[in-house]
Amino acid sequence: MARNMDAYWMPFTANRQFKKAPRLLARSQGMFFWTPEGRQILDGVAGLWCVNAGHARPKIVQAIAEQAAELDFAPPFQMAHPKAFELAEALVRIAPAGLSKVFYTNSGSEAVETALKMALAYHRVRGDGSRTRLIGRERGYHGVNFGGLSVGGIAANRKMFGTLLPGVDHIRHTHDPLRNAFTVGQPAHGAEGADDLERLVALHDASTIAAVIVEPVAGSTGVLLPPKGYLERLRAICDRHGILLIFDEVITGFGRTGQAFAAQTFGVTPDLMTVAKGLTNGCVPMGAVFATNAIHDAFMGGPEHLIEFFHGYTYSAHPLACAAALATLETCADEGLLTRAQQLQGYFADALHSLKGLPKVIDIRNLGLVGGVELSALPGEPGQRGFNIFLDCWEQGVLVRTTGDVVALSPPLIIEKPQIDRLVEVLGAAIKRCA
Ligand SMILES: Cc1ncc(COP(=O)(O)O)c(C=O)c1O
Repeated sequence: MARNMDAYWMPFTANRQFKKAPRLLARSQGMFFWTPEGRQILDGVAGLWCVNAGHARPKIVQAIAEQAAELDFAPPFQMAHPKAFELAEALVRIAPAGLSKVFYTNSGSEAVETALKMALAYHRVRGDGSRTRLIGRERGYHGVNFGGLSVGGIAANRKMFGTLLPGVDHIRHTHDPLRNAFTVGQPAHGAEGADDLERLVALHDASTIAAVIVEPVAGSTGVLLPPKGYLERLRAICDRHGILLIFDEVITGFGRTGQAFAAQTFGVTPDLMTVAKGLTNGCVPMGAVFATNAIHDAFMGGPEHLIEFFHGYTYSAHPLACAAALATLETCADEGLLTRAQQLQGYFADALHSLKGLPKVIDIRNLGLVGGVELSALPGEPGQRGFNIFLDCWEQGVLVRTTGDVVALSPPLIIEKPQIDRLVEVLGAAIKRCA
């Protein structure tokens, strides 16, 4: 296909490599993409952790089309449209108990910025304005805007962009391959990692700390699961010191771990929770922040005619996004998708862990329908082996995702067992070829 590719500067992409050998997608349906030449690609990563209900689902397609014709846009400041309320109610019904308010954004990154700002403002409106410090975690990924980058902990994402936000610190990550390699499900060792927050409390004093943000399952850094007891301990330390706990559920939300949210899978409820991706099945950009009544209500003092929270986006609660999200929730409910990972996780785990023993495989991690296969790096070329495996899988008709030398799998929740077999078979062959 003759196409000038110069003008498009692609995000998080090796642009020059891509443009020499482009990987184009032209069509999608169910578990598959098709290239412009008609080659079928099995989607092993739900697009980018977002197409949880599978591609081109009829109810979602129809809802978006009808909404565009009926109400294409409604200003979200001092105005609203009915579906924004309908969706918020539907979301609260499936959310962890206590998270009963929803604020809309357009992406995971914006959801993170919103949650961080909410946390700072919450303390301030309660007269506790010295709590300005934000705590993230090493290896965390919270999107690409300045707040999320600052609390994030992936050096490659941070190093180009100066000093980021001041007053941010990080607890240590939970990855412990010496003790936990090849664990099926949650690792046994490392709950004490949460105590690192006590170290930061001792250093900064709790009275300066607004919030801690973590991904319940760290995805972008290469699928790191919380050790048993870790999130519970983090919750307890936050409670002890009046620190808000934020779960970034942008990838874990909407069924990925076997329940609607990882907070439910792990039995730990945060004060604020960010979501995006699976919220609209990836069809229309949308994110959201869930908040407790206590946080919301703290803003509701003062004269009633005044804006309580000076924050929002032109496209917050966009009608197309609300319609897509409602149809996504309906599709998930019709097909039991929010808990389907529970039924498949045993099969998925067995399939994935069958790769143990292949050359260069140094760890395999899994939970629900999330998997990570870590490979040792090629000497002096970190990330190259992972990228080679990604390309090999693509050539064989399977889309996986790699970060560094970790291959991540997060297939649509509609995946069938023979497709799990195919995914793992192709990945195994790629690993052998790239060893
Ligand atoms: C945990 C987490 N937070 C935030 C984001 C950012 O979301 P977005 O790319 O929609 O801005 C991501 C994206 O992968 C994510 O995994």
